[in-house]
Amino acid sequence: KSIVVLISGSGSNLQAIIDACSSGFIPGRISAVIANKANAYGLVRANEAGLSTQVLSHKTYKDREQYDIALADAIDQHQPDLVVLAGFMRILTPAFVQRYHGRLLNIHPSLLPKYQGLHTHQRAIDNNDSEHGCSVHFVTDELDGGPVVLQAKVPVFSDDDAESLAERVHEQEHRIYPLVVRWFCQNRLQQHADQARLDGQVL
Ligand code: GRF
Repeated sequence: KSIVVLISGSGSNLQAIIDACSSGFIPGRISAVIANKANAYGLVRANEAGLSTQVLSHKTYKDREQYDIALADAIDQHQPDLVVLAGFMRILTPAFVQRYHGRLLNIHPSLLPKYQGLHTHQRAIDNNDSEHGCSVHFVTDELDGGPVVLQAKVPVFSDDDAESLAERVHEQEHRIYPLVVRWFCQNRLQQHADQARLDGQVL
């Protein structure tokens, strides 16, 4: 399977997926890594792994629609079976989301449907939650609202700050994202309308 990964930042989830492809855990290959920011550290990781990279800055496009058209053109050069959002910090247009329906995954640092949007770790702490976590989901028009495939939970400790909690959640992100990508590449995972199914079973 051909996978295109979109990033904006550190790319630690990208790294987990790179490693899982190299070890054979994911039966697929990363055809390209595309970033909207030239200084995204994930580009260094991708280059070190010998992957093809591209920077497509949103700043040179007049609006979100135009950017997303250019982004889709860049992605489609690689004819991906799967597009993986790994810390890609942009809201995508409905046209973009529809184009990749059923083959667009995201990871979000909360136990969805809790804490859609930003600052999830601080919000979990502020609400005195005893547990927090991350979710891998198919992307739909609703921001952070698509069908969830897999979640991992972590405890929240009384002395946690957003940073310590984020670190605990990140460890789990690096476990569950490669696992979900593996399922997809094994043809076991599908999106049917607003449901995610693994081996035909609704998740
Ligand atoms: C992760 O916390 C992910 O859940 C969120 O953005 C962050 C990306 O981290 N969507 P990294 O760039 O993979 O290190």
